[in-house]
Amino acid sequence: MIEQKATNVTWHDGDITIDDRARLLGQRGATLWFTGLSGSGKSTVAVAVENALFQRGKLCYRLDGDNIRLGINKNLGFSAEDRTENIRRIGEIAKLFVDSGVIALSSFISPYRADRDKVRALHAESGFAFIEIFVDCSLAEAELRDPKGLYKKARAGEIKNFTGIDDPYEAPTAAEIHMHTDQMTLDEEVAVIIAYLEKQGFIV
Ligand code: ADX
Repeated sequence: MIEQKATNVTWHDGDITIDDRARLLGQRGATLWFTGLSGSGKSTVAVAVENALFQRGKLCYRLDGDNIRLGINKNLGFSAEDRTENIRRIGEIAKLFVDSGVIALSSFISPYRADRDKVRALHAESGFAFIEIFVDCSLAEAELRDPKGLYKKARAGEIKNFTGIDDPYEAPTAAEIHMHTDQMTLDEEVAVIIAYLEKQGFIV
C-alpha cells in the first residue's frame, strides 16, 4: 500500500452526490477492467463496447495503456515497480470516472494479480463496481497478430521485460468475464459483455 505523504489533508464533500449524478445521466458508473497480453484485443474490445454502449445512450470513457502512458504516466516505464504505479494511478482515475457516473473502460496489460486486486479493493471500499474482464489469448496467437511489431522486437532482444516473453503475466483466477479472443469474433465478445451488464442490472 502506498504511503500517504501529505499530512493535514482531509476529504471535502460537495453538495451533489453520486446519486444526483446518476439521476442526471440516467446511468451509474462502473469500471470494466480489461486485462490480458499485449495484442490480446483489450483496446479493440473496449472500443467496440464503447460504441455499443454509446448507441444505447450510455456514456463511457476509455482509459488505454498506450494513451495514458503518453500523458499522465509518461514518467513510468515497464519495471515491476513502474507497472504497479501505472495500475495504481489508473485505478484511482477509473474511480473518479465511476464517481462522476461514467462507465470507465480500462485496457491495460496489468500483469500482476496483486495490482489488479488492489484496484478492486479500492473500488469496493467506496461501493463502486469493478468488473474484471480477462481478455484471454494464447501467446502464440498474440505473437502472430503482433499489431505493433513489438513481439518481433522482443524476440530479437530489442525490447527488454516484454510481457509474455521475458516478463510475467499472471492470469486472473476469478474474473467476472473470461473471454477467449483467439476463438471468438469481436461481435461475440461485445455481446458477452453487454449481456453481463444487462443481467447484472448495470444497463437497462
Ligand atoms: S502494464 O503492464 O503497465 O499494464 P500497459 O498496458 O500500460 O502495461 O502498456 C502496455 C503497452 O505498452 C503494450 O501494449 C505495448 O504497446 C507497450 N509496451 C512497450 N514496452 C512494453 C513492455 N516491455 N511490456 C509490455 N508492453 C510494452
